[in-house]
Amino acid sequence: MPKLIVVTREGVEREIEGDAGLTVMELIRDAGFDELLALCGGCCSCATCHVHVDPAFADKLPKMTDDENDLLDSSAHRDERSRLSCQLRFSDALDGMKVQIAEED
Ligand code: FES
Repeated sequence: MPKLIVVTREGVEREIEGDAGLTVMELIRDAGFDELLALCGGCCSCATCHVHVDPAFADKLPKMTDDENDLLDSSAHRDERSRLSCQLRFSDALDGMKVQIAEED
């Protein structure tokens, strides 16, 4: 099973099993990281699932939609690695990807 590496806001790193087909948000939430709020449940309307993605995987990620882009603009912690984790479907191609949970806005 592919692995996802999650880094908390405090910098603690943990490797979790990544069920292909679930979103990165669902994997992080189901693994018990309660600092990723994911308040809207994945319908791209809250931005509380904001993560910073390892740039080595940038070209393997789905293209950002206008909705995701607009929501990320509302974050003071956006940078070039920012994505909403509910918009990233996990797959074998993303095995070993590292994501850091973004600071809370
Ligand atoms: S969970 Fe709300 S935008 Fe991702």
